[in-house]
Amino acid sequence: MKIDSRIIQLPRFLDERGNLSVIEEDKDIPFKIQRSHWIYDVPGGEKRGGHAYKSTQQFIIALSGSFDILLDNGENQTCYHLNRSYYGLYVPEMIWCEMDNFSTNSLALIVSSTEYDEQDYIRDYNQFKQLSSAQ
Ligand code: TYD
Repeated sequence: MKIDSRIIQLPRFLDERGNLSVIEEDKDIPFKIQRSHWIYDVPGGEKRGGHAYKSTQQFIIALSGSFDILLDNGENQTCYHLNRSYYGLYVPEMIWCEMDNFSTNSLALIVSSTEYDEQDYIRDYNQFKQLSSAQ
């Protein structure tokens, strides 16, 4: 089964005063935004993520700097390198996600389709494999 993730280009408004990009729910991304969080000041060599969500969809943007995102649906793996603020990665639910290779001063914005709920996390990879193969 192919991973249903994809890069989504966002609108860009470029002028001599600088650039502007925007995300609108259900228009630029395929879900309603319930939450936004951001990751910053990541020490060199650190990883983030290392879990899947049972129902949360995410859209991840490198607002500044760059980082890698490794996705795994239990069968296939794929890797994306994000390094621009005018596109992002859509990650559906039930995808194991790891982020690493953060550049100095990188800033990752993550918008999500759910409110925070620790019960929505799958933090054990073997449990994730079992649940994803049962789907
Ligand atoms: P976590 O999702 O594990 O971080 P990452 O996936 O980036 O490695 O969250 C780290 C901590 O932050 C954890 O204690 C839960 C808390 N947290 C919230 O309280 N609300 C949120 O919306 C998020 C994403 C995390």
